[in-house]
Amino acid sequence: MRICLMGFGAVGQGVAKVVSQKKDYLLKNYGMDLKIVAVTDSSGAAISQEGLDPELLLKVKLESGKVSDYPEMGVKAIDGLDVLDKVEYDCLVEVTPTNIEHGEPAKSLTIKAIKNKKDVVTSNKGHLALFFSELMDLSQENGVEFKFEASVGGAMPILNFAQETLPGNEIKSILGILNGTTNFILSRMTAEGSSYEHTLQESQQLGIAETDPTQDVEGIDAACKTVILANAILGIDCTLKDVQVTGISRITSEAIDLAKKDGYLIKLMAEVSPDSLNVSPRLVREDSPYAVDGTLNMATLKTDLADDVTVVGKGAGSIETASAILSDLVNIWKSKKI
Ligand SMILES: NC(=O)c1ccc[n+]([C@@H]2O[C@H](COP(=O)([O-])OP(=O)(O)OC[C@H]3O[C@@H](n4cnc5c(N)ncnc54)[C@H](OP(=O)(O)O)[C@@H]3O)[C@@H](O)[C@H]2O)c1
Repeated sequence: MRICLMGFGAVGQGVAKVVSQKKDYLLKNYGMDLKIVAVTDSSGAAISQEGLDPELLLKVKLESGKVSDYPEMGVKAIDGLDVLDKVEYDCLVEVTPTNIEHGEPAKSLTIKAIKNKKDVVTSNKGHLALFFSELMDLSQENGVEFKFEASVGGAMPILNFAQETLPGNEIKSILGILNGTTNFILSRMTAEGSSYEHTLQESQQLGIAETDPTQDVEGIDAACKTVILANAILGIDCTLKDVQVTGISRITSEAIDLAKKDGYLIKLMAEVSPDSLNVSPRLVREDSPYAVDGTLNMATLKTDLADDVTVVGKGAGSIETASAILSDLVNIWKSKKI
């Protein structure tokens, strides 16, 4: 399977590491020869129809910061859309930054690949939260796979789990913690009695919260994931504007203390149901499945046959997210045997 990897940041580099680490395993267990034939970052691209060396790609990126410095096969200042014309590939792996205003460059890259009858795997939430049904319809019209396990909860298995492990069940609603940064901040405020401002700063120093933490702390990241789960699992046709969102920036240490005294924790919960698409801080019992600490993500799926099923996992991380991308690639491979 030849992949075109668009974006070579934390997740893209995780994919390269996983391709390198699992090459023999994939060949032995699935007969799958996974090759990276093109990689892009903001500097340009590296392209080789025979396959790029993932270890060399990682070394070049580490040393110069630019994949376009890859020896002999580097191309400066080439647009991702042009790269898709220059190389033969089976699947686009799209891991560029999330944009919630217009969904680019992910939207155009995805549309181009789908129209060219290529499968697409993404970890990006922006284009999905804005144009889910448009992109899904296009992939169905073109008879290609469009998979996005990594876009919700990183390595927490939820989309493929709901669709492949619980078929026959009606999934009535989902309630979960879909953002690791806010869960880390709230867990730390609970454990240490510290203020929101102080804990946010600490999380930024630890590299858990971003320099501009708005999308996480104001609940926007969790809202994007709410839209993806609503569309993909509950079949609710919605976009980001349909989610009611309240973040955690007004949560005080006093409120957390008060809750704690009564056996409750405050968590940023995402609710997905036909009646409610909502992200907001809520009280949860400290002995409930929602009481996960640190950067963990979790979700409880309410089903008609299996009753409540809860999944927990790492919501972010380079290798963890690449693991979800690999699961999509293997599933596509198994369904098509390219
Ligand atoms: N990090 C996680 O744990 C995680 C988990 C789940 C989902 N995600 C999602 O996965 C995606 C990637 O995340 P990340 O953490 O890897 O982000 P990142 O570290 O910021 O990397 C983004 C990559 O995209 C490149 N890029 C930027 N604009 C581009 C363009 N127009 N064309 C081609 N490449 C472009 C960047 O180039 P430069 O290297 O030159 O800057 C960089 O290589 C995001 O959508 C994110 O929301 C991330």
